[in-house]
Amino acid sequence: MESMGNLRRTNYCGEVSLALAGQEMTVCGSIARSRDKGGIIFADLRDTTGILQLVFDEDTPKEVFAKAESLRSEYVVIAKGKLRERAAKTDKIATGDVELYVSELRILSEAETTPFEVRDGINVNDELRLRYRYLDLRRPSMHAPIVLRSRIMQVIRNYFCDNHFTEIETPTLIKSTPEGARDYLVPSRVQPGHFYALPQSPQVYKQILMLSGFDRYFQIARCYRDEDLRADRQPEFTQVDEELSFVDENDIMTINEGLIKTLWKELLDVEVATPFVRLPWNEAMGRFGSDKPDTRFGLEITDVTGVFAATTFKPFMGVSVRAINAKGMADKLTRKNIDKLGDVAKTYGAKGLAYSRLTADGTTSSFEKFLTEEEKTALYAALNAETGDVLLLVSDADWVRACTALGQVRLEIGRKYGLIDPDKFNFLWVVDFPLFEYSETEGRWMAMHHPFTLPKAEDMDKIESDPGACHAVAYDIVLNGVEMGGGSMRINDPALQDRMFKALGFTEERARENFGFLMDAYRYGAPPHGGMAYGLDRMVMLMLKKDSIRDVIAFPKVQNASELMSGAPEIVDPQQLKDLKIVMAEQ
Ligand code: AMO
Repeated sequence: MESMGNLRRTNYCGEVSLALAGQEMTVCGSIARSRDKGGIIFADLRDTTGILQLVFDEDTPKEVFAKAESLRSEYVVIAKGKLRERAAKTDKIATGDVELYVSELRILSEAETTPFEVRDGINVNDELRLRYRYLDLRRPSMHAPIVLRSRIMQVIRNYFCDNHFTEIETPTLIKSTPEGARDYLVPSRVQPGHFYALPQSPQVYKQILMLSGFDRYFQIARCYRDEDLRADRQPEFTQVDEELSFVDENDIMTINEGLIKTLWKELLDVEVATPFVRLPWNEAMGRFGSDKPDTRFGLEITDVTGVFAATTFKPFMGVSVRAINAKGMADKLTRKNIDKLGDVAKTYGAKGLAYSRLTADGTTSSFEKFLTEEEKTALYAALNAETGDVLLLVSDADWVRACTALGQVRLEIGRKYGLIDPDKFNFLWVVDFPLFEYSETEGRWMAMHHPFTLPKAEDMDKIESDPGACHAVAYDIVLNGVEMGGGSMRINDPALQDRMFKALGFTEERARENFGFLMDAYRYGAPPHGGMAYGLDRMVMLMLKKDSIRDVIAFPKVQNASELMSGAPEIVDPQQLKDLKIVMAEQ
């Protein structure tokens, strides 16, 4: 191993070009690979910006050539030389038309053989990659998203700072408020039996910041939710969190459309058209069977309940009936494939998936023989059904369940049969969410967003009498079928907040116990305010067209919420538990 001596980097590998040919420069990084062609050695040097080819030949000083011969993958080096035009150019790397003819080389660190090859296009299992995350992150396709994420955060910061927002950090050891997902708890040593919670979001603090007169706040905040992992969910994730005073929901949506426009332009050079479509929740559910619709393809859901108003066919009697016409897909949607779609529908609560395949050889249908001729004609008319089409129907007493199941069938068809254009960025707002949703397990109404969300003005008198009919001044921003963010206008009237807590089944004591400090704060003058939060990980994933947020988080967690490289969570030293006065129960 050698030291850098007096060599210092003058250039980054990925930033050199033909325009610099002829210049002396010093670069450093890791050897991606080296090839000894007898008398001439090529070594690809990789740093955080890209790859540059190093060359050594018979005219290279002897001791430098000898060192080049000893180079192995992942050796860390610093090299000085003259940049020159490459004889055999390649467009595989950004710097494929130049190379560095090396005159001085220092090997700063040798490397053992790595558990997997550090290059793109390898087939290695996820567990190994995560255990050796530092090696995985050297691979260009894993490295670039993390670098881009940093640029995204910078653009976000600039946008907010340019628009009168103040960046404020809020605490991460906070009071547990059992509403929403499960909290991660942290025991207090100095107050045995007392626990902090890690924040699920900075919600309460950002509202208090509006009451503290900060007017506009933002934070790139780490949040923690003890819930099951999915491709777009991690127990520990990052929110781009914001709150604004003296605004209404339209102002907030406009400012955020500006943020999206700026981000997509600056990072992807994509012009995003604004304003975004705003779909009321009812319409999103009705047309797409989802509160985060993917509008990159058709196959919209039609309400055909009316067709069956007088039907004698039991499964369609007195219930909501929803249908999709998979236009021209009869050859693709065979009986077998329709059965698979039926399984999808059942997973989402449907009793079954009724179908009609209208082929040139005739119709095969699971239900048409039970219909009258008028019902069949009316159904075909409602769905614009023609030969070659496949009609898919779900009926349910609950229209939301019927639509949800059909919405999942729609997505499955879209994905499986390539109906989705991966190059599109389809943004939209879903607005007018229900204020409450009924929880069967809790036996009470729960806040669909959170308890501080402002009810719509026209629903104020229904909060107690008809909670299910109330809507919220809440909005989600959806991109390509993923909920990228969401927020709401907040209640700034203490009396209304009291009513909300009551409607949510809080006793006065429990409301005070959990949120007393917040309720008090609203008694000393509160501007109208609202805000929202993006999932930054989801935003980066969508911008970079990755399938999982794991690909845009440097050190993600896996299914059982462990971090495989360090091995967290771990059993701790018994003394640590003793200090905390914690005794483990028998497992
Ligand atoms: P919400 O709970 O909708 O709202 O969260 C906002 C956004 O955060 C992202 N998100 C997640 N990302 C990764 N992993 C998770 N486990 C996870 N959970 C949520 C989503 C989501 O849209 N305080 C409110 C916002 C507000 O009202 O201002 C809130 O947290 O992209």
